[in-house]
Amino acid sequence: MSLAGRCALITGAARGIGFTIARVLCEAGMHVGINDLDPGTTAGAVQELAVAGHKVMAFPADVTKASQVTAMISRVESELGTLWLLVNNAGVFRSGGADSLAEQDWDDTFAVDAKGVFLCSQAAVRRMIPRKDGRIIVVSSIAGKIVRTNQIAYCSAKAAAIHFSRCLAVEMAPQGITVNCLCPGMTDSEMLRQTARERAVDLEDYLSMIPSGRLAQAVDHARTIEWLASDEARHITGQVISVDGGQSIYHPATLSRR
Ligand SMILES: NC(=O)c1ccc[n+]([C@@H]2O[C@H](COP(=O)([O-])OP(=O)(O)OC[C@H]3O[C@@H](n4cnc5c(N)ncnc54)[C@H](O)[C@@H]3O)[C@@H](O)[C@H]2O)c1
Repeated sequence: MSLAGRCALITGAARGIGFTIARVLCEAGMHVGINDLDPGTTAGAVQELAVAGHKVMAFPADVTKASQVTAMISRVESELGTLWLLVNNAGVFRSGGADSLAEQDWDDTFAVDAKGVFLCSQAAVRRMIPRKDGRIIVVSSIAGKIVRTNQIAYCSAKAAAIHFSRCLAVEMAPQGITVNCLCPGMTDSEMLRQTARERAVDLEDYLSMIPSGRLAQAVDHARTIEWLASDEARHITGQVISVDGGQSIYHPATLSRR
């Protein structure tokens, strides 16, 4: 792989899957920008990676605000280097079905999980197009491919992110920029623990939904992103890759009859 010295920005990377993506890309020798909402936690994440000697910087911003996103991308280019890889990882989850979901929860979910992906990608490709080079990766969810009850806003916003990735991939292909979408299945993370608490279930209860019998680890997603960013994947664009142990293609009833 030839990622060393190239510059990556990962949104929502102060913790969770995004932080692990940042760590793995740092270990691959990339210069990494960490974005998140809170300046304090973003700086803390940077500190944790910087002590290992990695070149890493904090870029706190709200990905739902166009002016903050534009200023962030400018700062990345002036302080970290030429932006070559953007990973749209920031996301929020709000539960609720069509009959119960609050309007604000719909708006909040779409603001981060769909509009934030658009704003960051737009600001990034405006830099990448003149150079005819770059990579965009969108972290969506298998919830954007399959239907989950009581998650109507999250499923819909993640589906929007998936199709946005495909549309952008076709627009950017002549510009030498690849765009791909990674869909994590249930991942051992604070986001999933919070959902489990809300539903009053244990994390282990989810295992029967996953053919591999284990939750994804954040590093499973980070390694896939490292590969998608590598030269080996240069001809791959517009693809939607589930990292889910088979969860998105599995209906429990089909196996229970064997
Ligand atoms: N955890 C899972 O099981 C799972 C499964 C499928 C997909 N995903 C997706 O993976 C991504 C990472 O999930 P995670 O589990 O690490 O979640 P997380 O909640 O631990 O991390 C998400 C990060 O995004 C940040 N963020 C939220 N709104 C933001 C904004 N407006 N601007 C900038 N940053 C913002 C949060 O502060 C947080 O640090 C999300 O897009 C999520 O939807 C997670």
